[in-house]
Amino acid sequence: MDIDLIAAIVLKLDAEGEVLAANRAALTFFGDGLVGSKLFDRFVPFEHRRDAHTSLKRVLSGRISERELVELTVTDARNHTQSLLWRIHVRRDDGGEALSAVYTTMDLPDVLDRAHARSLKELADVKHALDASTIVAITDVEGTIVQVNDKFCEISKFSREDLLGQNHRIINSGHHSGEFFKEMWKTIAHGEIWRGDIKNRAKDGTYYWVATTIVPYLDESGKPKQYVALRHEITERKEAEAALVEANRRIREEQQKLIQTEKLSSIGLLASGVAHEVNNPLSGVLACVKALRERKIVAERQDEYFRTALDGLERIQQTVRGLLDFARQRPPSAESVEIAEVLASALRLLAPALRNKDLHIESAISPLDLTAYADRSHILQALVNVLLNAIYASPESAPIYIHGDVSGGRTRIVIRDTGPGIPQEILARVCDPFFSTKPEGEGTGLGLSVTLGLMKSNDGDLDIKSEVGAGAQVALLLPAERK
Ligand SMILES: Nc1ncnc2c1ncn2[C@@H]1O[C@H](COP(=O)(O)OP(=O)(O)OP(=O)(O)O)[C@@H](O)[C@H]1O
Ligand SMILES: [Mg+2]
Repeated sequence: MDIDLIAAIVLKLDAEGEVLAANRAALTFFGDGLVGSKLFDRFVPFEHRRDAHTSLKRVLSGRISERELVELTVTDARNHTQSLLWRIHVRRDDGGEALSAVYTTMDLPDVLDRAHARSLKELADVKHALDASTIVAITDVEGTIVQVNDKFCEISKFSREDLLGQNHRIINSGHHSGEFFKEMWKTIAHGEIWRGDIKNRAKDGTYYWVATTIVPYLDESGKPKQYVALRHEITERKEAEAALVEANRRIREEQQKLIQTEKLSSIGLLASGVAHEVNNPLSGVLACVKALRERKIVAERQDEYFRTALDGLERIQQTVRGLLDFARQRPPSAESVEIAEVLASALRLLAPALRNKDLHIESAISPLDLTAYADRSHILQALVNVLLNAIYASPESAPIYIHGDVSGGRTRIVIRDTGPGIPQEILARVCDPFFSTKPEGEGTGLGLSVTLGLMKSNDGDLDIKSEVGAGAQVALLLPAERK
């Protein structure tokens, strides 16, 4: 007989009273730490210890018959002391030497009854808590529902009769692919626990999400004999997540619009200058073409006139291209961009504005010097925005310094002007949308906010330093290479 099934306490002690083995009833009664301990020192109250040792010695030496019952007072796991009657059976080797003493209580101590009742109650409590919080279903290996709790019925709005004998298809929402459930079945059929979020459909057609854990119960051969599915409703969380995704999408859309608005306002700013840029060569081209048409030009000089006209047209084409390039809306795509080349495009667009104030660019960035891994049109727009601010701030005939470097995987493009600088108290606000110190109608106040957004969307940043009277220094920070 399995000693664990014996309701009485069974202990095996050595001659010193050390516990060599104990059955389950003993463990329940004495608690952890029983096996390996000295029973008398640990579980017998001090005043009874001597008696305990003596009775063991007397039994071992054969002075007490094994049929006699021995009284032993012990302390249980809850520190209650009680006196119990024990039968002691001595195991001996062939020579009659005592090997061990097996102590068995004569009757089930009432504390064990209490322990049993307590564990039943605990079980009932756990079940109650589980029923209150968790949607529980048990299916057989085929997936036929054999048991559901009230919570399952409540949330699915199906009655128990509706559900028993059915399989989970009854609440399938059609949201998940066949692949999804196939994967799930594969996992649990292998005897492994499956976890996932499932969207279900209630009887009234409404949907609910449940975080699901399916635990396979295995038979002796290790094959699943039934599946227990534990679920918690997470509809609210799922809805919040979906709302968040939607909100993010909208923010991105708004940002895109803002970028476009700002671009359009910069285009307005650029356009007047660009008109010059087109007009100047255009008059030259016109003059050349007219002269050629009126055949006033001697044959030897005709070539020269054609070349001048062509040069002019090419300049116009470049200017118009630059403006189109700036205005075009494309999906962002990162690539390795040569900074000197983008800078040249930006400066072409800004040439009239620079000329207007007789400003000169002092750039320390030469071709092939510096590259960044980002969207080219974003860099172009950022450069135009920052340079427009520098141009606006610069006094007549001043230099604007541009340099760049790479450090710690970041490419830095620094634009420095010699204007009035940005007062400390507004430095933190210059990147706020619509913040502008320009007179009404002159600026949208979006330049830096959009520039910062462009940098961030390229995994970069904007760094602005300034001291009043010492000009402003704005650095565009971008990844130097693909990650
Ligand atoms: N280089 C600079 N020197 C001094 N102040 C600057 C400089 N760059 C930006 N600022 C300050 O930051 C503010 C915000 O700049 P931002 O580019 O965002 O808008 P804006 O230039 O005023 O308007 P917009 O760019 O739409 O024409 C400016 O109004 C100005 O006060
Ligand atoms: Mg600006």
